[in-house]
Amino acid sequence: MASNAQAAQTTSSSLSLWFQQHRRAVLITAGVVALSAAGTLYYTQSNSQHARRAREQARDAANKAADKAKKERKQKKPKQPGEGKPDAKSADDDDDSLKLTASDIEVMDPETRSKTALTLKARGNKLYSAKQYQEAIDYYTKAIQCEEQAVFYSNRAACYTNLNQLDKVVEDCSNALRLDPQYIKALNRRATAREQLGDAENLYLSLCDFTASAILDNFSTSSTTDSVERVMKQLATQKAQDILTTREPRLPSPTFITAYLTAFRTRPPPSLPANPSQGDRTLQLAYDALDAKDFTHAFTFFNESIKQGISTSAGKAEALNMRATFKFIMSDAEGALVDLDEATTVQPDSAQSWVKKASVHMELGRPEDAMKDFDRALEIDPNNADVFYHRGQVFFITGEFDRAIAEYRRSSEVDPAFIFSHIQLAVAQYKSGSTEKALHQFRRLIEKNPESAEVYNYYGELLLDQQKFPEAVNAFDKSIELAKNNHPRNVLPMVNKALAIFQHRQDFATAESICREAVDIDPQCDVGVATLAQLLLQQNKVHDAADMFAKSAEMARTEPELVNALTYENATRAQIAFLKNYPLQADRLGLSRTA
Ligand SMILES: *[C@@H]1O[C@H](CO)[C@@H](O)[C@H](O)[C@H]1NC(C)=O
Ligand SMILES: *[C@@H]1O[C@H](CO)[C@@H](O)[C@H](O)[C@H]1NC(C)=O
Ligand SMILES: *[C@@H]1O[C@H](CO)[C@@H](O)[C@H](O)[C@H]1NC(C)=O
Repeated sequence: MASNAQAAQTTSSSLSLWFQQHRRAVLITAGVVALSAAGTLYYTQSNSQHARRAREQARDAANKAADKAKKERKQKKPKQPGEGKPDAKSADDDDDSLKLTASDIEVMDPETRSKTALTLKARGNKLYSAKQYQEAIDYYTKAIQCEEQAVFYSNRAACYTNLNQLDKVVEDCSNALRLDPQYIKALNRRATAREQLGDAENLYLSLCDFTASAILDNFSTSSTTDSVERVMKQLATQKAQDILTTREPRLPSPTFITAYLTAFRTRPPPSLPANPSQGDRTLQLAYDALDAKDFTHAFTFFNESIKQGISTSAGKAEALNMRATFKFIMSDAEGALVDLDEATTVQPDSAQSWVKKASVHMELGRPEDAMKDFDRALEIDPNNADVFYHRGQVFFITGEFDRAIAEYRRSSEVDPAFIFSHIQLAVAQYKSGSTEKALHQFRRLIEKNPESAEVYNYYGELLLDQQKFPEAVNAFDKSIELAKNNHPRNVLPMVNKALAIFQHRQDFATAESICREAVDIDPQCDVGVATLAQLLLQQNKVHDAADMFAKSAEMARTEPELVNALTYENATRAQIAFLKNYPLQADRLGLSRTA
């Protein structure tokens, strides 16, 4: 259900801080919170599939852009007239002032010095207009020796811009800003140079400059606000790239894993053979760990049991199936496929392995193969509920809701006890526009399953999407109550409740405290952390918000989530930099107040 994503959208369009007052300025990307209903894993997994492609495309684009920038820098032509133009007044008279020595200048009285400086500057401007940048630089330099003025530095920086000496542009603009911190032209010029320098550090500083420029300028210049967005995006994409290529694969939160594992009907683990090998024993340990929801050890044991050698083919196939499952949820679809190929070779009649293979094929963008896998599973077991449910999920994510509904129905016929088929049926009905049917389905489900925390949670999401806030909060409360003693505890209903309260009454404080409680209970709940960061940001608690976004970036599973978190983190830190560098202006604009 898109309700969470939508919630985030509503959230970011009703921001209470300066982002909101100046809507174009900072945030466009809305969907921090983007969980869906019981189909979650397919969503996230197919997201990561997109993410991989996006990553590759981003890499190509970045390389291309870098090459282009390099080329341009090399054959850098003078800018279009006007763009980097100094603040000019015309200078007519030639003079010998360039020959002035330091001691000549020292003996001048202040008035003469000022006058000389202005003459030198005027001469510099004239040369600049004639595109004689090196000569213009000499005049500005001499002017600066007579008298330091922000405009002299800024004009000289314009010359360096045209000569593509970016470090010098930065240096001169910094001097100009030392003398006049609110010099917007110098801010923009330095920001542009830093953007061209292009490494993460300079991009971040460029963002700070453009942000300051936009705020000082009351967001009245669209090219500046466009620049803020552009640099922010580039920064986050670049950083995401680094993170994704270097970070170790990790298991997601126990809640997530549990949700995925429960999407398959449980089967008894293989029994221990009469003369068990070491691998057979390790396999038992793996299942014990799985029962105890100790997923890290379970994965290690499954892995080890395979290496040690399992004596039965059924046992071996199960171990491979489970190792593949862990690889899959750690986004290693290729690795998972290798294991599943072996599992179906060792034991071709394991329907579940074929169903899992279908998921992996979907993840790898091979839907035809996925459909063949499903068929294969049905040949083995024509009444396999897993097949119908997971095939329904495939249709669900491809937006073919009618076909999805048919599959969920089949799944429920074969195995009425599996609650997610019923829930997804309602969700698919809702998605296809049959709101009344969906609501009816949920009410019936609640009657039949008054103890199901999941049913209440998804029902609440639907109500929230319908903006029926008090009813939604009631449903979430009920879900929270029912899930209280679960292990691991799913805190999603709490996060949803926080969103509902925030949307309904703009009650940030209550929403924040509920969200904090959720994150305290499950520190690995990525949606909780992302939502909390948003709530903090909207209360102007920028330092806490930035830290929370950093945490959110660490936990992000998919590239879009990661880019989003990094974007917010840097935007928030750029705002913090403004508060620090421009305390007076920040005060005047009310930016430093905490809600
Ligand atoms: C921005 O707005 C403030 C007051 O709202 C005003 O004092 C200032 O001059 C404006 N700045 C620009 C560059 O328009
Ligand atoms: C901003 O982003 C860059 C790269 O994306 C990162 O290296 C840096 O730590 C961030 N800066 C701050 C102050 O958060
Ligand atoms: C699985 O076992 C192999 C050796 O067989 C080892 O290299 C690898 O690190 C193990 N992976 C995990 C996650 O334990």
